Amino acid sequence: MCGIVGYAGPKPAIDVVNEGLRRLEYRGYDSAGVALMADGEIVTEKRAGKLSNLAEAVAARGGMTGPHVGIGHTRWATHGAPTDRNAHPHVSVDGRTAVIHNGIIENFAQLRAELEGDGVEFTSDTDTECVAHLLAREVGQGVDLTEGMRRVCRRLQGAFTLLAVHGDAPGTVVGARRNSPLVAGVGDGEYFLASDVAAFIRHTREAIELGQDQVVTITADGYSITDFEGEPTDGTPFHVDWDASAAEKNGYEYFMLKEIAEQPRAVADTLRGRFDVGGGIILDEVRMSDQDFRDIDKIFIVACGTSYHAGMVAKYAIEHWVRLPCEVELASEFRYRDPVLDRSTMVIVISQSGETMDTLMALRHARTQKARVLAISNTVGSTIPRESDAVLYTRAGIEVAVASTKAFLTQLAACYLVGLHLAAVRGIKYVDEVAAVVAELAETPEKIATVLAGMEPVRELAKRMGTADRALFIGRHVGYPVALEGALKLKELAYMHAEGFAAGELKHGPISLIEEGTPVVVVVPSPRGRSLLHDKVLSNIQEVKARGATVIAIAEDGDDVVAPHVDHVVFTPRTSTLLAPLLTALPLQVFACELAAAKGHDIDQPRNLAKSVTVE
Ligand code: G6P
Repeated sequence: MCGIVGYAGPKPAIDVVNEGLRRLEYRGYDSAGVALMADGEIVTEKRAGKLSNLAEAVAARGGMTGPHVGIGHTRWATHGAPTDRNAHPHVSVDGRTAVIHNGIIENFAQLRAELEGDGVEFTSDTDTECVAHLLAREVGQGVDLTEGMRRVCRRLQGAFTLLAVHGDAPGTVVGARRNSPLVAGVGDGEYFLASDVAAFIRHTREAIELGQDQVVTITADGYSITDFEGEPTDGTPFHVDWDASAAEKNGYEYFMLKEIAEQPRAVADTLRGRFDVGGGIILDEVRMSDQDFRDIDKIFIVACGTSYHAGMVAKYAIEHWVRLPCEVELASEFRYRDPVLDRSTMVIVISQSGETMDTLMALRHARTQKARVLAISNTVGSTIPRESDAVLYTRAGIEVAVASTKAFLTQLAACYLVGLHLAAVRGIKYVDEVAAVVAELAETPEKIATVLAGMEPVRELAKRMGTADRALFIGRHVGYPVALEGALKLKELAYMHAEGFAAGELKHGPISLIEEGTPVVVVVPSPRGRSLLHDKVLSNIQEVKARGATVIAIAEDGDDVVAPHVDHVVFTPRTSTLLAPLLTALPLQVFACELAAAKGHDIDQPRNLAKSVTVE
């Protein structure tokens, strides 16, 4: 991952780069650094830790406001510990080339050995540093910086977005990308390069998406793009239509609190205007026909982290509504397992960022096997939607907090839409049956708002639970992925040992973890409709209570059977069983956030994590 920014224009480069890094810090925050071009000389500053450490170092040097061209980097460490010396930029031996990098250069060991054989002394443990030395060598042989970058890129394997500056090209920033994101911003007499438009949205909303294996050069006067062989090419221009204020906290203490509160709107936006009169959904990009949807005989859902949990919920809905076999796979395992895929398989990839490398590689594997790929993503124009046959965008808006909340809920909404679409197109459900579920979905934003308005007892409970050293989450049916998601949130934010289990599986081992006072959060299914499920979960509650657990139940309004058997109960509005995760996930988000806050943790940037993971 890592966030990268480059600037050429009339403003002090340090200001633009710092502001950009602040907006990209969600991508990694192990260290940060800048390289600025000052009269043909490169000046760098870099520091381990958060961006504030870099800002202090820059301030100690008088602000470094002179240069108008520069690059900056915020790191999520892969090769080399998160120290000052491993922070980017990395500089060539003569100090005239500076490079920043997002990704992993897989053949770095050979390149490093070659360079060391030529007498180059490395000053870091990173894979990136070899690019600085290789580039310096090319430019030293008389080629310009852009051609030098192309030559170096042709030798690199793996995933990379690179930005470089060189003392011989004082007004220029050169960028390159393969398998990692890079966008250019087109301003008025100023140009930007960044991992994500958030970095330059304050300055311009006109952007250009770079394609695979492209090199881009910016100056204050313009930009040019070529492929790695030097053939001129075009990027894809797009207009950014979200507001810069969307990336601000708007009075909330943390982004996560703001994003939790935004969920009614995010879900409503994701559902709005999606259905046509025939009951099908209106996908955002479709490069497959209704017949393709009919020809499918098997579905795989592939994703990572929270998106994987959304996929697990989708499996229950799709199998029930569409009557097609549906498997859910962790993206990092998918292609290595050699799954059986063919033309009649549909692979649904779910990715908030649209650039998670594990998911991207799974997608590519699926496409080489001729499977059709449908992407559910929150990021317009990102790599995963671009490479898919069809796309449904969630409309959560930018999600900054590393722990996903509103993206998760909108992914659930999108999965329900896909399930209903498949059921409609394949003639499994009549239009009025689809419409009935859509109508119920349309009521969920209001119900989400109701749940969020009643979270004070959950906050209080979370504060009291701050001394617990572990917690278990259990659920059945769609409550099971919700339990997994609740446990993931607690691990991510509170650094607590938290595990989610299928409630029925508890007795086959995990129940031995329960001691006097162990908190067990139980996602209780509705007693209406599937009373069998409800009864089974009640039995599971008895089992853990009998072993001393402190039980917190998430139950449906009107479920008065549960309350006498548990220590705390949080009620959510009535909804049908399959849609319940849109409501039952909410108290678990708030619980984790408050418990972590009570422990004094960094809510938006938990340790060791990053929002978007662009390495495998
Ligand atoms: C990272 C994030 C998680 C996220 C996962 C998948 O690990 O920290 O919050 O769920 O990536 O991200 P994606 O962007 O593909 O949904």
